[in-house]
Amino acid sequence: MEDYTLFLIKPDSTVKNHIGAILKIIEEHGFVIKEMKMFRMDRKFADRFYEIHKGKDFYDNLIKFMTSGRTVATVLYRKNAINELRKVIGKTDYHETKPETIRRIYGETITRNAVHASDSPENAKEEILKVFPYFKFKE
Ligand code: CMP
Repeated sequence: MEDYTLFLIKPDSTVKNHIGAILKIIEEHGFVIKEMKMFRMDRKFADRFYEIHKGKDFYDNLIKFMTSGRTVATVLYRKNAINELRKVIGKTDYHETKPETIRRIYGETITRNAVHASDSPENAKEEILKVFPYFKFKE
């Protein structure tokens, strides 16, 4: 299911009114927004969403950041969405990423890095269903 991915606009971007600018880039790259909602993660949701990072040195900062404000969550669709979206957003550390990527334009630090995108079909499916439990994947 490499054609669907979960894309989050993180609290650093929503607080700075970058939602529209970021979604414009996404749509210009051919992604179709299949689902969208804005919400503030609570501790329980953030712990569940980031369970694969539990125990890492950046975990507490990550949870504090992700529960600090509102997140826009979307399900994006296009051919080869997972790989294509990761090219558009750039690497986790915005310093290392290419100049035209979303994280380079809007990221501030390795934690406050503007956006999130799923990194594999397995994780995309899990992450999409954590935010949109009713989502139906079509072949
Ligand atoms: P993301 O890839 O969306 O999901 C994990 C997040 O943890 C990552 O973005 C960053 O926001 C945060 N993070 C902070 N420090 C690190 C690090 N050293 N390596 C990876 N992720 C980090």
